[in-house]
Amino acid sequence: MIISIRQFQAQRMQAPRDFSPIENTPICVEIGAGKGKHALLFSGQHPEKKLYAIERTKEKFLAMQKQQTLEPRHHLFPIHADALPWMVHALYPQQVAQFFILYPNPEPHNPAQRWLNMPFFEFLLSRLKPEGTITLASNIPDYIDEAQHQLEQLWHLPYLKQRIASDSARTHFEIKYLERGELCQQLIITKPEHYQTRFDEFMPLQGQNDAK
Ligand SMILES: C[S@@+](CC[C@H](N)C(=O)[O-])C[C@H]1O[C@@H](n2cnc3c(N)ncnc32)[C@H](O)[C@@H]1O
Repeated sequence: MIISIRQFQAQRMQAPRDFSPIENTPICVEIGAGKGKHALLFSGQHPEKKLYAIERTKEKFLAMQKQQTLEPRHHLFPIHADALPWMVHALYPQQVAQFFILYPNPEPHNPAQRWLNMPFFEFLLSRLKPEGTITLASNIPDYIDEAQHQLEQLWHLPYLKQRIASDSARTHFEIKYLERGELCQQLIITKPEHYQTRFDEFMPLQGQNDAK
């Protein structure tokens, strides 16, 4: 697999403050989980799956944590961190069965910060299992079009494109956009069996991630 993008500098990422390593068992990961509506829904529907739900905004993270105390979920792990350093330090190669990125910030003035435009996306792919999936949802047709272009031209990954039903209510943003009558769409991206990245052997320096 030839990936023509600047290589993400994973070795430069410091572990987040108060970082705790996790075990190398199969997991799902939600990036930018907000107040955790989808995380709680998903963990309720799939009690056998472990879900790490990462949110960097403190108030939203606290709201997710509070909701979890009201609706206990034994396999949901809310994480207060920036997803990039946390994923670099916590995740093992080919560990993740499903990633969810639901209604990410559109970054109108900073296209380089959109998930599929970032060199970091290659690192994310290295942590995904073969045949694992990434669900990327957005209410912005141009965001979805650009992501499709990147999947075809840069990442060489297969995907399905779906329109989200008007009565879907997985996240707070989804509810808001559908109520406004906006078109919400998602891409279900699959990692093929023999897909390779430049991070397939990468683990952070010893001592920074000791859970083996
Ligand atoms: C537009 S909101 C969507 C929240 C939720 N997924 C929903 O649909 O209601 C995007 C969220 O992603 C979070 N976020 C953005 N970049 C992040 C990062 N690098 N790490 C963790 N969270 C991030 C933001 O704090 C924000 O809560």
